[in-house]
Amino acid sequence: MKTLVVFYSRTGTTEKVADMIAEKLKADMEEIIDTVDRSGARGYLTSGRDAMKRRMTNIEPAKNSPADYDLVIIGTPVWSWNLSVPVRTYLTQNKDRISKYAFFATMGGSGDKRATSEAADIIGKEAVANISFTTKEVVKGNFEARIDDFCTKLSLA
Ligand SMILES: Cc1cc2nc3c(=O)[nH]c(=O)nc-3n(C[C@H](O)[C@H](O)[C@H](O)COP(=O)(O)O)c2cc1C
Repeated sequence: MKTLVVFYSRTGTTEKVADMIAEKLKADMEEIIDTVDRSGARGYLTSGRDAMKRRMTNIEPAKNSPADYDLVIIGTPVWSWNLSVPVRTYLTQNKDRISKYAFFATMGGSGDKRATSEAADIIGKEAVANISFTTKEVVKGNFEARIDDFCTKLSLA
């Protein structure tokens, strides 16, 4: 199964999960690059506000077309109990090119359910599998067993 892991990561947590999934599934990777500087406290505040208002941003052109893959795995940090703005933008631009997809989120502690259902609303169908991780478990590094379960589910999907 040809698989693409697409993710956005502001501070590296979602990237860490994306890396591990891609390595285990031997998948290609696509990092969503935002043209807006979201660093620091100011970036945190504007990102939270943009996410709450469900705004879009300008992302760099993708390297891969999701239409070329059997499965697309989408990863986002939770922002203001929503999808991150770069992932919302990517999904909105690419929804017609995504056939089968899985979804994962990283978060401080809550908002993954809403982000997951928002992704399904944009793409217009449910994911074959969903999972979320807290920042703490990713930083501590004790999340590999849950990734193994997720990857097993995907290989059966
Ligand atoms: C603008 C902003 C809003 C956030 N809102 C939430 C939230 O609503 N719920 C939550 O649990 N974590 C929230 N977080 C924390 C991130 O989801 C979490 O730290 C995530 O793992 C960061 O991923 P990253 O390092 O890949 O950017 C927010 C972080 C940012 C920057």
